[in-house]
Amino acid sequence: MELKTRMDGQVAVITGGAQGIGASTGRIMAELGATVVLADVNEDGANATAEAINADGGTAVGVRYDAFDKDAVRGLITDVAGRFGHLDILHNNVGGSWPDRDLQVLDIDDDTWLKIFDWNMHTTHWATTAVLPIMLEQGKGSIVNTITGGAQVGMSIQVAYGSAKGAVSSYTRYVAVQYGRRGIRCNAVNPGLILTPHAVEVMSEDFKRSLFDQITTVRAGVPDDIGYAVAFLASDAAGYINGEAITVAGGGPRSSHDAEALRVGAYGPSVPAPPADLILPDLH
Ligand SMILES: NC(=O)c1ccc[n+]([C@@H]2O[C@H](COP(=O)([O-])OP(=O)(O)OC[C@H]3O[C@@H](n4cnc5c(N)ncnc54)[C@H](O)[C@@H]3O)[C@@H](O)[C@H]2O)c1
Repeated sequence: MELKTRMDGQVAVITGGAQGIGASTGRIMAELGATVVLADVNEDGANATAEAINADGGTAVGVRYDAFDKDAVRGLITDVAGRFGHLDILHNNVGGSWPDRDLQVLDIDDDTWLKIFDWNMHTTHWATTAVLPIMLEQGKGSIVNTITGGAQVGMSIQVAYGSAKGAVSSYTRYVAVQYGRRGIRCNAVNPGLILTPHAVEVMSEDFKRSLFDQITTVRAGVPDDIGYAVAFLASDAAGYINGEAITVAGGGPRSSHDAEALRVGAYGPSVPAPPADLILPDLH
């Protein structure tokens, strides 16, 4: 029996593929037989990850592109499709925030707000609008977007990041509904705290501790946990899954009711505790 998770003959583009979650996704998809294009502003990093994949018997190339540059995003997609003759999988993985500037609603400046939307939402739209005509022509294609738990629960900081990822979540559903009957599947992966080198660097020990206190698994999340979920969603094994988000968060916080950890704040002071005389609604 040939497993439908195999990706032999398929071409996959992974944005932000030099390190972290994108690099894991690349390694796993290459292991499954895909030809993997790791696109990143860090060209040396993308090339190094591609070389490591090739040394392990996979097929990968690193390319430079800048997610903030609309023409570069579109050029990436058309170049890959032109080079290989088809493009079967797109993982819109690139994204992030500047935690020192992406704070609360009244603190954030317009430039930071717009750039974080570019980094997470708009670049997803630019890549998707470039890849959709190619996939529609093929009659088949799979897109996996990347969102975040904070988009659903709300956090004490990172209002732009959470809002932009929330927009990506809605966008995922729209692409699925509007193009699903023409052979396109579009899903999202929803990571909890994942110990990428970047996350380890920027998150405070308190924040990590408070999240780990809530996970229900025996270990913390690592990039491969997300890579496997993305590879599954991208593969034919997930052929009846469209417009969905898979949460990969170790059973961690899913709603504002159990998300005390998120209120602690990753990088700054906690949001003040509710006033002692807070009146709770009568739920009975
Ligand atoms: N790590 C987590 O805990 C976590 C949780 C939820 C969501 N996410 C999301 O997962 C995705 C990957 O996160 P990660 O933790 O692996 O990040 P990371 O910072 O470790 O890696 C991101 C990669 O994107 C590249 N990149 C950054 N800006 C770029 C640009 N302008 N153009 C091209 N490449 C660029 C970087 O060079 C890097 O290789 C992001 O969308 C992030 O928001 C991560």
